[in-house]
Amino acid sequence: MKLSAFGKKFTSESGILKLMDDLGNALAGDKDMIMMGGGNPGHVPEIEDALKKRLEKIVLNHDQFRRLTGIYDPPQGEKEFVKELASMLNKEFSWNLTEKNIALTNGSQSSFFLLFNMFAGQMEDSTKKKVLLPLAPEYIGYADAGLCDDFFVSFKPKIDFLENRTFKYRVDFDSLEITDEVGAICVSRPTNPTGNVITDEEVKKLCELAQKHDIPFILDNAYGTPFPDIIFTQAKPFFEKNMILCMSLSKFGLPAARTGIIIADEEIIKAVSGINAIVNLAPGSFGPMMALDLIKNNEINAFSTNVIKPYYHNKAKAAVELFHKELEGTNYYIHKPEGAIFLWLWFKDLKITTYELYERLKDRGVIVVPGKYFFPGINDESWVHRNECIRVTYSQEVEKVKKGIKIIGEEVRKGYY
Ligand SMILES: Cc1ncc(COP(=O)(O)O)c(C=O)c1O
Repeated sequence: MKLSAFGKKFTSESGILKLMDDLGNALAGDKDMIMMGGGNPGHVPEIEDALKKRLEKIVLNHDQFRRLTGIYDPPQGEKEFVKELASMLNKEFSWNLTEKNIALTNGSQSSFFLLFNMFAGQMEDSTKKKVLLPLAPEYIGYADAGLCDDFFVSFKPKIDFLENRTFKYRVDFDSLEITDEVGAICVSRPTNPTGNVITDEEVKKLCELAQKHDIPFILDNAYGTPFPDIIFTQAKPFFEKNMILCMSLSKFGLPAARTGIIIADEEIIKAVSGINAIVNLAPGSFGPMMALDLIKNNEINAFSTNVIKPYYHNKAKAAVELFHKELEGTNYYIHKPEGAIFLWLWFKDLKITTYELYERLKDRGVIVVPGKYFFPGINDESWVHRNECIRVTYSQEVEKVKKGIKIIGEEVRKGYY
């Protein structure tokens, strides 16, 4: 049997697929592992209660139950959800959207696969385009999303050292170069893996640059505002005509429902709906039906700001405090936690790579993600920073996180000698 290049790409031992496999095997073993590597959101009791109530209401209403389980939605996604979302966003932010500006997908991960390959790769005139990531480290899930090789171009950040062993990455506009080879710009805000929230000014500047080059600016808002609003700093919601805003219901508390939201120009929404029709017939109804009332009465934003944000912010603050205690005396830095559900730690001049550290931690029952996977599009092997960082999730049970951080501290200390 012969596989196409596309088929081969996903059977190959690419770094990330191998890592996923490795993580899966570690968790499936008989050892009780402390999982600080995954991207699963925490289970927020108030949100779980609200979702249970909604599900009960649907199950007790025959028409709604049928919409949840027995009817294909249009390829653009559940009609009432799309209409109510446009109306809520217009009321909140005056974005002037119509229902033709919104399409749903089966998770924003699949939104990026569609969008990246719509704007980059092999073009009609047989030229090749790339997706530009203005700042790496960036989301690991982008890395293998291109249908052809050499799909990303990305740039090293500027690093600002802040108080109390924290730092912040900033877009280095002086080195950012947008050539004819670039088909789209994409950035996640808040950023997975770093918890960085690029500033309103940086977002505006990137959007203007994209406009100048007549390419879309894709903003990955999976953790952003207005929902799930996992942002601990000042950040304005942002949408402009040349933008594609990607949202998700996952980090609100519905990762299993697989609902991504694309907000964009009508032509782009038409194309996304067309691809949806071919790949999925229709996006799933579960997420939009579960969130419909919350969107209608705007509770989704209130829950996000009043429940989800403080839930993660408190956990982030507690984890940072523990890391300061356990890493004291080493040359560590913590990226200023401004949002998302991760901490990004930098062990400057560590004597081992963080891949080695990951292996050692795995042997001790703690799973983290080594930093080198978060630099798609950066091929500079001499940049040691890539091998000095790790991503940790702090959203699991407090006692486990405490124990995990203690073990990380012990192994990092050994890595300096
Ligand atoms: C930055 C970012 N974008 C997109 C996604 C994809 O999320 P989903 O497919 O669950 O909507 C994730 C998932 O963790 C993420 O961290």
